[in-house]
Amino acid sequence: MDNHNTQLPHSEPTPEDVLFDAASRFAADKIAISFSGAEDVVLIDMAHKLNLDISVFSLDTGRLHPETYRFIENVRSHYGITIELLYPDADAIRDLVREKGLFSFYKDGHNECCGARKIAPLRRKLETLDAWITGQRRDQSVTRTDVPLEQLDKAFSTISHTVTKFNPLASWSSHDVWAYIRANEVPYNPLHDRGFVSIGCEPCTRAVGPHEHERAGRWWWEEATQKECGLHAQNVIKIISR
Ligand code: ADX
Ligand code: SF4
Repeated sequence: MDNHNTQLPHSEPTPEDVLFDAASRFAADKIAISFSGAEDVVLIDMAHKLNLDISVFSLDTGRLHPETYRFIENVRSHYGITIELLYPDADAIRDLVREKGLFSFYKDGHNECCGARKIAPLRRKLETLDAWITGQRRDQSVTRTDVPLEQLDKAFSTISHTVTKFNPLASWSSHDVWAYIRANEVPYNPLHDRGFVSIGCEPCTRAVGPHEHERAGRWWWEEATQKECGLHAQNVIKIISR
């Protein structure tokens, strides 16, 4: 029987399919997984099991939890991989902190600090890549309900350089992610055992209660529709224009 006939008519590609496809279309030095130090470690596990030559980077904002730094190191040694840490521009951080202190985001909103600590280093990195792979999921946020498996990254593409963004876990729920982590004995950030669900920087992340949405623990002093730091800015652009 033809293989095609055995598939469900509308079945989505699996995350592994998306990763495999991405790795076959882009040269190894032109694509990378963007690892946040949270549950998106499943992408690294999948790429490892598929034997894919995809590098991994993480944005070290300088404000991550100690547990996250240890976890990143744990993932590095567990899989025997290189994780490239990307750092903000020291002068930009010095100027921001000198002018506004270390916690300006509570008063002025997170965009300025995220801009310096995450977006600028990511932009510099994406200038060297043609594609990146994220752990975004549709069930994570009201800003992510339409996230596709693959998209043109309008926030980071330029007229002369197209950046493709893959979101292999887009259709997975938090439950799916955790079922995978348990079944495959994937290492995870110990903060998850202390009520943290979505994990970002230490001053901007807190544990959530059993009935709270996972994003309630991120930038909790801001509106849910604004909870994108700019890494995934095009999600918010879409919401505002609706
Ligand atoms: S955020 O924009 O609100 O911080 P979130 O924590 O939900 O993003 O993570 C979504 C995806 O963005 C992650 O799966 C990862 O691919 C990427 N990401 C988020 N934070 C980082 C980080 N510090 N370093 C690298 N990638 C990150
Ligand atoms: Fe700064 Fe908070 Fe954004 Fe981290 S999440 S870069 S500490 S505003």
